[in-house]
Amino acid sequence: MIATEGSLVVTNLRVEFDGFVAVGGVSFDAHPGEVRFLIGPNGAGKTTCIDAITGLSRGSGSAKLGDRELLGKPAHKIVRLGVGRTFQTASVFDELTVLQNLDIAAGLHRSSLSLLRARRGIDPAIERALEESGLGAERMTPAGILSHGQKQWLEIAMLLVQDAKVLLLDEPVAGMSQDERTATGELLGRVAANRAVVVVEHDMDFMRRFATRVTVLHQGRVLSEGSVSDVQSDPRVQEVYLGTAGAPSVTTIEGETH
Ligand SMILES: Nc1ncnc2c1ncn2[C@@H]1O[C@H](COP(=O)(O)OP(=O)(O)OP(=O)(O)O)[C@@H](O)[C@H]1O
Ligand SMILES: [Mg+2]
Repeated sequence: MIATEGSLVVTNLRVEFDGFVAVGGVSFDAHPGEVRFLIGPNGAGKTTCIDAITGLSRGSGSAKLGDRELLGKPAHKIVRLGVGRTFQTASVFDELTVLQNLDIAAGLHRSSLSLLRARRGIDPAIERALEESGLGAERMTPAGILSHGQKQWLEIAMLLVQDAKVLLLDEPVAGMSQDERTATGELLGRVAANRAVVVVEHDMDFMRRFATRVTVLHQGRVLSEGSVSDVQSDPRVQEVYLGTAGAPSVTTIEGETH
């Protein structure tokens, strides 16, 4: 796929912690219009890749949004360039309403003048994010009493009001019910229509249903890359999932149940 202004292109990304190579030269890309999955066993380096791209860990190599290099920039500048992420554990303000959470997220991108203007009514970007995330009816609900799924959608909505061009989501469906997973996959499809979306996920059934392309990491390196059927039929992927205790079992990757 041809890189555009909204494409994330990661090339030879490397992250070390005190000499331990957590990510040892990883390349992948994500383009508006696709949902790129990043999968791999525990400790493969998935979260570390996201941390490096978003400025939370120091990485070498390259991670570009369009023609702008992200590596080496502080985290807040990377957010302002349009790269948003979620964490493995939800990080919304429980005591505040959905609307208040979105208002805070929007504040990151507003000038003080537009902040003043926004006080008079709901910011159109917030209204769009409420609609897109399906949280319109929950706008006055305190985030703390949202369902687990709704909290994740609120986090995604917060990235939308920040005008994120790239969304990096770390295990968005962990702990969700089947219905919430389906709703999340559909939300990601809508979000990805004009943004690049990277999903780190262990749920292979979810991956099969909603991935456009997949990168498989193992021990800090790319083991396999391609469509869902490409990676599912790759013997190296099957071997890693079979041989790794605690990882999502190859039975789920092959579509069987145990
Ligand atoms: N701050 C850190 N200091 C030292 N080692 C770290 C640090 N962060 C991660 N690691 C190590 O780097 C490797 C990759 O970790 P990472 O969290 O990226 O894996 P992951 O693929 O996200 O795994 P999981 O699926 O369990 O979330 C692991 O061996 C982990 O212990
Ligand atoms: Mg992780």
